[in-house]
Amino acid sequence: MAEADPGKEAKDFHLDTPFENRPFFLKGANALDWGMQNRFSRIFNPESGRTVMLAIDHGYFQGPTTGLERCDVNIVPLLSHCDALMLTRGMLRTTIPSTFRGGTVLRASGGPSILKELSDERIAVDMEDACRLNVAAVTVQIFIGGEHESRSIHNMTRLVDLGLRYGIPVLAVTAVGKDMVRDARYFRLATRICAELGAQFVKTYYVADGFETIAASCPVPLVMAGGKKLPELDALTMAYNAIDQGAAGVDMGRNIFQSEAPSAMIRAVRGVVHEKMKPREALDLYQSLKNQGK
Ligand code: R5P
Repeated sequence: MAEADPGKEAKDFHLDTPFENRPFFLKGANALDWGMQNRFSRIFNPESGRTVMLAIDHGYFQGPTTGLERCDVNIVPLLSHCDALMLTRGMLRTTIPSTFRGGTVLRASGGPSILKELSDERIAVDMEDACRLNVAAVTVQIFIGGEHESRSIHNMTRLVDLGLRYGIPVLAVTAVGKDMVRDARYFRLATRICAELGAQFVKTYYVADGFETIAASCPVPLVMAGGKKLPELDALTMAYNAIDQGAAGVDMGRNIFQSEAPSAMIRAVRGVVHEKMKPREALDLYQSLKNQGK
């Protein structure tokens, strides 16, 4: 019990200062509970309002992807440069030091491998385990137009309900099947369905024509998906355009860990996302860090 302090009788209630209600910095997130907003602050930098997420969850359906053969060797050295890490609980428990201070976005759907129909996913993590791992969010794949569209949506809504119970945001990832057109119309449909049905943020691909309409019509933060490996300047340009057109960050995997200099590349991506560095300037940063062997 605190001791009585007779010298501290005078109190100042600042009666002339109205209580300040501070709006939360992320789009569509004002009505979320404190725990969820706090978890979001571990993913999105409250200063810039944006995030650089490093996606390393590919093994959950395609095994040891190029660049992820040894996450202890290839990924752990990059951890200090990402705001958040998207990964499976297997990789988190086995390989990521528990001293990691960024946000973890836990892959919570799975089932089929690349040898089968990919949309045939189920929820693959109990929310209690997500809590035990102290994750900042969970993530689930949505297959709009895919064979198992309804089930993927149901996986998401179930996770949203559980996430609301425990204060854990859900990231919906808009997966695109082989036969689907990757255009703004498709992604407006997919991202809007995810947000309407409760996802607190959505990961989607960049399209050169109309990305700003996808961002505008989605009432929650959009994170740009990286996709297959591109030349560094193209990847930095895509990230720049996505941010410029309304994305709240990027979630890139292969464009970082398959780069010739992953550490230099993730720092160049940070420049684009957090400092709005122009693509050429970010490429110069990449080249100079690479030349210094950093
Ligand atoms: C599944 O589609 C996941 O989102 C991926 O495993 C991963 O996050 C993709 O990252 P990237 O396309 O940037 O390599």
